[in-house]
Amino acid sequence: MSGGISLSVMPATAPVHVTVTGAAGQIGYSLLFRIASGQLLGTDQPIVLRLLEIEPAMKALEGVVMEIDDCAFPLVEDIVSTTDLDTAFDGASWALLVGSVPRRAGMERGDLLAVNGGIFGPQGRAIAANADSDVRILVVGNPCNTNCLIARANAPEIPPDRWFSMTRLDENRAKSQLARRAKVPVSSVSKLAVWGNHSATQFPDYAHALIDGKPVTEVLDDMAWLRGDFLTTVQKRGAAIIDARGLSSAASAANAAADSVVSIRTATSDDDFTSLAVVSRGEYGVPEGLQFGFPVRTDGKGGWSVAEGLSHDDFASDRIRITTEELMGERSEVSELLA
Ligand code: NAD
Ligand code: LMR
Repeated sequence: MSGGISLSVMPATAPVHVTVTGAAGQIGYSLLFRIASGQLLGTDQPIVLRLLEIEPAMKALEGVVMEIDDCAFPLVEDIVSTTDLDTAFDGASWALLVGSVPRRAGMERGDLLAVNGGIFGPQGRAIAANADSDVRILVVGNPCNTNCLIARANAPEIPPDRWFSMTRLDENRAKSQLARRAKVPVSSVSKLAVWGNHSATQFPDYAHALIDGKPVTEVLDDMAWLRGDFLTTVQKRGAAIIDARGLSSAASAANAAADSVVSIRTATSDDDFTSLAVVSRGEYGVPEGLQFGFPVRTDGKGGWSVAEGLSHDDFASDRIRITTEELMGERSEVSELLA
């Protein structure tokens, strides 16, 4: 018998290509390191980072790439930095569309539509032409619901259920406010749905949220606070951060983007849902085609559905009507960009 040792060779896992636009920006600076460390796709999934920027930011991006190199992340197989849309989305399974201009103090997110809307049509087309057939897209750049709608409308080849825009930061903010008020850990709060637009009209739905399995309305028993300070704090949190920092939220936005990707990839537990803005198929009377924040349940195999059977009182129905009307207005405003 030969004395040789037989080594079984594990098949190498193919890298997943992840595109991040606006990679040299504030959110990019936080998000890239989370992706590279495996927090989005798992600590056994090699990745290729595909980083899109505009020309004036390429030098800054060079510095960010040096820092990623200097982390010696074992999962990062390659980094592609580019200003070219086709190169950026080539083979991408995840496209995280962050690159766009943030608002400044005194602006609403919708005011950015004129400056940012035009970015998303060409990106939608480039995703359709170049990305992997399993691509999933998360739009973070504001106003994210309608920017996502623009990109989706320009990529009819991609199934509409692959497109997501981010209401997770609002969910996280709402959970944190409720937990603080109830003096419980954030992990005690579940079923927090954010309905509608990622804007000051959003409706963070305290009525279906639970604290340690009990309705928030019972645990807190303070409807005036829930309908008043709680609601406006969450709706206006982005503006409060801009006032305090002089810059819009970045680390918490990157954290929410990571949370969103994990939620899309993994199955929602039976007693919960997650907040994502997805294409409306008419659920809860929301006009078809709007990119609308709903309570979503994911199946862990890439599928999702809007949680069914939730009823709304007059106050909630009114809030959902207002945010729906805002999104319809934004859709009309960008009708020329919808291919
Ligand atoms: P930032 O200005 O720091 O970075 C944006 C980056 O995008 C810049 O590096 C810029 O060069 C790049 N960019 C601009 N146009 C581009 C284009 N056409 N293609 C590729 N890159 C482009 O801004 P930030 O703080 O990182 O915020 C980015 C966006 O995310 C803003 O629109 C902001 O309002 C939004 N945002 C959304 C949420 C949310 O919850 N949905 C949260 C926070 C921020
Ligand atoms: C946020 O919610 O923090 C972001 O959308 C940035 C903003 O403009 O408020």
